[in-house]
Amino acid sequence: AIDIAKLRAESGLVTIDPGFKNTGSTESAITFLDGEKGILRYRGYSIEELAEKSTFLEVSYLLINGELPTAKELENFKSKITHHTLIHEDIKSILDGFPSNAHPMGVLSSLVSSLTAFYPESLDPNRSAEGVNLSILRILAKLPTMAAWAYKNEIGHPVNYPDNRLDYCSNFLKMMFALPTDDYKVDPVVASALDKLLILHADHEQNCSTSTVRLVGSSHASLYASISGGINALWGPLHGGANQAVIEMLEAIQADGGDVKKYMAKAKDKDDPFRLMGFGHRVYKNFDPRAKIIKKAADDVLAKLGINDPILEIAKGLEEVALSDPYFIERKLYPNVDFYSGIIYRAIGIPTSMFTVMFAIGRLPGWIAQWKEMRENGEPIGRPRQIYTGANLRPFVPMEKR
Ligand code: ACO
Repeated sequence: AIDIAKLRAESGLVTIDPGFKNTGSTESAITFLDGEKGILRYRGYSIEELAEKSTFLEVSYLLINGELPTAKELENFKSKITHHTLIHEDIKSILDGFPSNAHPMGVLSSLVSSLTAFYPESLDPNRSAEGVNLSILRILAKLPTMAAWAYKNEIGHPVNYPDNRLDYCSNFLKMMFALPTDDYKVDPVVASALDKLLILHADHEQNCSTSTVRLVGSSHASLYASISGGINALWGPLHGGANQAVIEMLEAIQADGGDVKKYMAKAKDKDDPFRLMGFGHRVYKNFDPRAKIIKKAADDVLAKLGINDPILEIAKGLEEVALSDPYFIERKLYPNVDFYSGIIYRAIGIPTSMFTVMFAIGRLPGWIAQWKEMRENGEPIGRPRQIYTGANLRPFVPMEKR
């Protein structure tokens, strides 16, 4: 029999912390988060103030460079991003190779990874700060184009090229929704709602996808390879995929007669794998400050667009029941950012399969800032330890004796 205690003793001093519930992986000066008090700040600025007063590109600059830009710095940053919005025509052939039912997250991570081939200089781990900055501008500029093209692939429509007269969000919306057959005009209410959502998603310290970006980058893999890894980590339903899962859940509840209590019972039943999507958070144990902002934004956007979405009523019903239910109270489970974001995405016409892609566009500046910080701090390669619990040394068994 294997002597686990002996093996453990022989492994030396290793702490085991599955899911890193109590293990810090780095020091960071980017995002401050207090889960007990529900505080979130980027570079010292509160999320509430940034969501109200800033724009997504300004927040991107702040996260990546550490300070708010002057008017001139911001103009310069924006104009450089606009300059790089086009993507190489050969990326279209890569896109054409995907089946039309490919999930846009898989398409997006592949297209981002392909940038390493189009910009091989990005692979040089010792490139100049200027070179790194160029890679950063390129990915910020190209991700919305690639995201909109992934969607066009999904619906079998021709892709739209960027319109650089438009701002970041309007340009994305036009690439998503304009058809050769009509005259698409971006609704400023929609563009501004999207901008706010992106700000709220822009960074969240060492979450699963960000830790992935840092871990991939710690081997000195390129920015594009690291971001592609982050997109894949974000895809899962326990992380960024939750926003898609929330709407699917709300639709299922609606189709099933709208009985909120029935689904609450399922969520509490330990023999049922069902979880209330959009509830709970590893760090926020009081409330998620982003959820508060988003809930209000959802009400505003729906009112401005004159939309009456029954799904929103189901969401509010679930929240009300959950907030007074001992199961949820004891476990400190509150609605997270994704509980309401899907409702706004739906209201502004973003299809469900693109929800997690929207999250990726929002989280991009955070991933970049974290990757850059890790490289600038000269952090070592990430390489966790383990405690081996497998078989002890044993002789090889020839095939005829097995
Ligand atoms: N519904 C029902 N029960 C839940 C839920 C939920 N959404 N979330 C947690 N619980 C329960 C667990 O079953 C567990 O109960 P137990 O102590 O009786 O075993 C307890 O609450 C603690 O949950 P853990 O899974 O241990 O908490 P953890 O910190 O590992 O997970 C997570 C956090 C993944 C967010 C979890 O709450 C969850 O699965 N939520 C639903 C998915 C979701 O909304 N993800 C988005 C997160 S935010 C983001 O990525 C932007």
